[in-house]
Amino acid sequence: MKFYIDTADIEEIRAANSRGWVDGVTTNPTLVAKTGRKHEDVIKDICREVNGLISAEVLSTEANAMVKEGYELAKIHDNIVVKIPMSEDGLIAVKKLASEGIKTNVTLVFSPIQALMVAKAGATLCSPFVGRLDDIGYSGMNLISQIIQIYKNYDLPTQVLVASIRHPIHVLDAAMTGAHIVTIPYKVMQQLVNHPLTDKGIAQFLVDAQKVPQ
Ligand code: E4P
Repeated sequence: MKFYIDTADIEEIRAANSRGWVDGVTTNPTLVAKTGRKHEDVIKDICREVNGLISAEVLSTEANAMVKEGYELAKIHDNIVVKIPMSEDGLIAVKKLASEGIKTNVTLVFSPIQALMVAKAGATLCSPFVGRLDDIGYSGMNLISQIIQIYKNYDLPTQVLVASIRHPIHVLDAAMTGAHIVTIPYKVMQQLVNHPLTDKGIAQFLVDAQKVPQ
């Protein structure tokens, strides 16, 4: 399973990349707004930092305008994936961009049938949001299993990118479903490394090392 980092913060991306945790990056307008910088500048910086797919989201909601924005974003770097919100206009834009060899990621997917439509439009990536579904009392991970089953049933090439990750169990469950990619906030990536028994073990080794004759 590939790990993408879910952030537009270049320092977080650098830190995660130096630890070998970054196969790609996802951004969205909320994450870019937190940087206080221009969208294009942020995306260019990320492209310089990471050798992997980088999702950059369009702001338009009408198909032709999304396609136009998609062209501009795709010009930035070969690794750019144009991120498009789920809607009929969004799928028109996906089909057009895909027919021209431009990679797309459909975001804000909350049902297995939406995911089927995403694949039929020819998207490279489909981003179902597990955390936001859990938040309202539904099972985000059940959605992932259903999408993976549907894509397998029909050999659909669209990859499942598990998004809206809140904690390490989401990452574990995503891996158990066989999802292609999971996009993870930096804080959750750090949580994946730690275990109290590891810390206890290291502390004990240091104590015991003092007893070894010099
Ligand atoms: C990634 O592509 C999504 O934009 C992101 O995972 C959304 O996460 P959130 O639900 O924590 O905002």
